Amino acid sequence: MMGSTPMMAAALAIAAALLVSLPVLYRLLSPGAGDKTSRKKAIPPGSFGLPIVGHTLSLLGALRANTAEEWLRRRATAYGHVSRLSLFGYPTAFLVGPAANKFLFTSPALTTTNAEAFRRMVGRRTVRDVAGDEHARVRAMMVQFLKLDAVKRHVATMDAEVRRHLDAHWRGRADVAVMPSMKTLTFDVMATVLFGLGRDSDVRRELSTEFQQLVQGIWSVPIDLPFTRFSRCLAASRRGRRAVAAVIDERRAKLERGESSPADDILTHMLSKGLPDEDITDNVMFLMVAAHDTTAALITFLLRHLDANKDAYAKVLQEQEEIARCKGAEEALSWEDLCKMRHTWAAAMETLRIVPPAFSMLRRALADVEYGGYVIPKGWQVMYATNMTHWDPAIFPDPGRFDPARFDDPAALAPYSFVPFGGGARMCPGNEFSRVETLVAVHHIVTRFRWKLAAGCDGSFSRHPMPYPSQGLLIDIEPIH
Ligand code: HEM
Repeated sequence: MMGSTPMMAAALAIAAALLVSLPVLYRLLSPGAGDKTSRKKAIPPGSFGLPIVGHTLSLLGALRANTAEEWLRRRATAYGHVSRLSLFGYPTAFLVGPAANKFLFTSPALTTTNAEAFRRMVGRRTVRDVAGDEHARVRAMMVQFLKLDAVKRHVATMDAEVRRHLDAHWRGRADVAVMPSMKTLTFDVMATVLFGLGRDSDVRRELSTEFQQLVQGIWSVPIDLPFTRFSRCLAASRRGRRAVAAVIDERRAKLERGESSPADDILTHMLSKGLPDEDITDNVMFLMVAAHDTTAALITFLLRHLDANKDAYAKVLQEQEEIARCKGAEEALSWEDLCKMRHTWAAAMETLRIVPPAFSMLRRALADVEYGGYVIPKGWQVMYATNMTHWDPAIFPDPGRFDPARFDDPAALAPYSFVPFGGGARMCPGNEFSRVETLVAVHHIVTRFRWKLAAGCDGSFSRHPMPYPSQGLLIDIEPIH
């Protein structure tokens, strides 16, 4: 939970920010806002909460206390599947259910948006900030490196990174804090595979440090005063951006000298396509945020659930040991090996259902748009929360039970109900990358170590908004061989 001093600081900060934006708010909330023709219908039921602060502090507090799901569920019970609230200074329509997810992922009247803190730290020209042809063009540059064919080529590199990480951070130790360890691993994999930043590069170490700080503030209150979390994270972002800009200069020089090819890494590819430096920096920053904490959370919570569910663990262990038996000790995993990891991926999907790394995503209405009998005015934010369908007992019976068998036949899942990677044209293009990374990491962990929660570590977690386990999920480990 937030302490009282930061809470007051945050409240003051919000007050200052919103006073500045009052004219905008007045326009958004006034009855004449948006296209007048569609104004015969009512706006969604609910409330905008406290003057000025809206619901922002309340939701952030619930996220920290890991009660945000109940918080949102209470609103859905009180107001139904479409309701209004106020978040991050904007009127927001909160939508619940598979049909709402479909609407949010596919409606041309909605565009992606990020919380203001995220935009100021990561950038305003990321792939999520552009639309139409521009979005397709920037996304294609990323997909070139993230599509299945490209990821298949990186299995051996990921295998080497995982082995190196476990040798350096797990071998010879009695305990490990899993989340920090997996953050380091996923950062290193991303830096090597996507950005071509070698293991000994200073900039890789520098970026890793800055990003650990930066991601803590992406949903903070965006006021740059010395005592705020946002200000500390913004400073980390500035240092990170300078480091990325230096890499861009170095890559441009190499490209001009003919010492590199656009196929080498995403950054060089974007340069070769003529993307402006500012846009490249924003997109590199975005990819770094999008790619590493999410997958680190998936691997961490998968280990947590395997510890608590012995049947699922036994199946995963058997599957991984069978694969290991067919390989030499130093032989890297292949794509064919990953295709045999059916139980492991089902357990990972069940983990994504129970603890989705992305709690919620935002869209913005480009025009007045109708949904569920209400009008969502132009300029409003539109929000969905993954847990609203992931934890709906009508869709996933007994939702608190960890049961990977739910994913035995992914094609049988109700459409738009399992949405850890979003959906539609904005669906996460990194899903294959994170799948391969997760399977490789779990293979080596499961076949090399036994683990259990350390004394005093209860496996609980909070959200920032990424899920973060208490004590980083401290486990006692012992080597198997
Ligand atoms: C378990 C891991 C991951 C999860 C749960 C996840 C989840 C998501 C979600 C929910 C979205 C937003 C979808 C929407 O707004 O509808 C997204 C977007 C995105 N993700 Fe991921 N992600 C993961 C890993 C990755 C990785 C590894 C990468 C890159 C290497 C990546 C790159 C992106 C990009 C570029 C977008 C923006 C797509 C667009 O706007 O067109 N993600 N991700």
